[in-house]
Parts: sequence; C-alpha cells; structure tokens
Amino acid sequence: MALMASLMACSGQNSTQESKPTAARSGKEIYTSICVACHGVDGKAGTNGAADLSKSNLNAAGMAYIIENGSLSGKMASYKGILNPEEIKSVAAYAATLKQP
Ligand code: HEC
Repeated sequence: MALMASLMACSGQNSTQESKPTAARSGKEIYTSICVACHGVDGKAGTNGAADLSKSNLNAAGMAYIIENGSLSGKMASYKGILNPEEIKSVAAYAATLKQP
C-alpha cells in the first residue's frame, strides 16, 4: 500500500523534462491498439499462447511489472520504450479490469 501511494505521488508530479508529442492515451486505447492482438478484447483470446487475463492472479501492479519487463518465459516482450511509464500504468489498470471473479 505504501508503495502504491508513493507510485501515485510520483506520477502526480509534472516533470519538467516531459515533452510528449501526443496526448497520453487511455489504458483502454492502448490495450485496444496493442494488446488485443494476442489477448483479445476480453483478455481470453490466448493468441500466440497469451495468458488469459480474465483468469490472471495478478493485480494491476503485477501486470504493470510484466508489461514493463516482459514475461518470465520471454513469450511476451517488454513494452518498456514502447509505452511510457504512465501508459504502462494505465494499460495495466485497464487489463486488471478484465479479471473475472
Ligand atoms: C505478441 C503477443 C502479445 C501481445 C501483443 C501482448 N501480450 Fe501479454 N502475454 C502474451 C503471452 C504469450 C503471455 C504469457 C507469457 C508467459 O506465459 O510467459 C502474456 C502474458 C501477459 C500477462 C501476464 C498474465 C498472467 O497472469 O501471468 C499480462 C498482465 C499481459 N500479458 C498483459 C498484456 C498487455 C497489457 C499487453 C499490451 C500492452 C500485452 N499483454 C500484449 C502475449 C502478448
């Protein structure tokens, strides 16, 4: 929880070196443009062996870790450098909403 709080505190700051060419995309937009290819709109597609996100045990923070660093097996590539930290956070938050109880 303390970690979450500090993460949020960090992202709330407007860093001066930030010069984004385009407005930040929402987590859903990012998911729909990149992640659907393998995970599908509902997270269940499993294309290319993609994990079923609706059955994931990960929370948003855990998902953000996978998205940033790639999966342990390397089957899913790292999106560091493709998505900025803010985008990783929002797409992870969106992906976490696909989980079903
Ligand atoms: C090229 C296909 C592909 C794309 C594109 C892709 N993934 Fe994945 N993803 C995978 C595969 C394959 C796995 C399973 C990896 C493994 O088992 O090691 C996975 C696993 C995951 C996991 C871990 C789930 C779990 O419970 O272990 C998350 C979270 C995830 N992807 C989110 C995303 C998000 C968000 C995006 C878009 C930024 C994305 N993925 C784009 C193929 C993809």
